[in-house]
Amino acid sequence: MSSFQVIIYEKQDGIACITLNRPQALNAYNVRMRDELYEALGAVRDDPDVSVVILKGAGEKAFCAGADLTEFLTAPPPVFARQARFARDVWGLFLSIEQPVIAALHGYVLGSGIEMALCCDIRLASEDARFGMPETGLGIIPAAGGSQTLPRTVGRAAALEILTTGRWINAGEALRLNLVNRVVPRADLIPAAQKLAEKIKSFNSLAVRYAKQAVRRGLDLPLAQGLELESGLSRQLIGQEQR
Ligand code: COA
Repeated sequence: MSSFQVIIYEKQDGIACITLNRPQALNAYNVRMRDELYEALGAVRDDPDVSVVILKGAGEKAFCAGADLTEFLTAPPPVFARQARFARDVWGLFLSIEQPVIAALHGYVLGSGIEMALCCDIRLASEDARFGMPETGLGIIPAAGGSQTLPRTVGRAAALEILTTGRWINAGEALRLNLVNRVVPRADLIPAAQKLAEKIKSFNSLAVRYAKQAVRRGLDLPLAQGLELESGLSRQLIGQEQR
């Protein structure tokens, strides 16, 4: 994994940290980043030693300013479709990770940037974070799940306003909309993410994974089935621990 060029992958004491690392292009999501994220996320998913993951952006100005426009809108339609499909693979991989993923969001969080954040489990934002989905204004729609994950997070009306008017929102509004869990001063963002990760890591990692699974899978189910899922997972967890 040392060959990464546009992300940084670090692992220390059970905490994995993935940094989007194209600060000169505001960490815009390009094909290379997609490939590298796919590799790093796969490694995280399969690594029993990783208890929790932090995702952040390098540089002062942005978590991620969306899809790389130099690649994205110049591609012919079939290539475009293929990119969208591959992109979804990364998002699918994000969603399949059993460990909690914490997004540390600062500066511009646009397009794919929001979509990536929405695939994470806990979102921390710094006071300077600004969120927007410019796709519709560019004549396209989100292709990485945003039209589904955003309304599930902030509700239909707010999602539709963000998607159809292109209005950007600041960190305070993102907090009110439950788009982020917490807003902290810029200097505190990474320490806050680290502190949260340490707390999660201090718990039984199997219990944490099962709790995440119960919530993630249960949200897509009617309540009765969700309750069945919970008791099944609970029995499974106790069984695992007694082995
Ligand atoms: N794709 C490719 N390059 C991008 C980019 C993107 N999505 N967003 C920013 N960059 C590049 C800029 O081209 C610029 O490169 P340069 O220094 O070689 O000219 C560099 O990042 C810095 O961006 P800049 O526009 O100078 O910063 P700013 O603070 O003035 O403006 C934004 C920031 C986010 C408002 C502006 O860059 C922007 O509108 N980006 C596009 C956002 C977007 O539409 N994303 C796609 C969603 S589908």
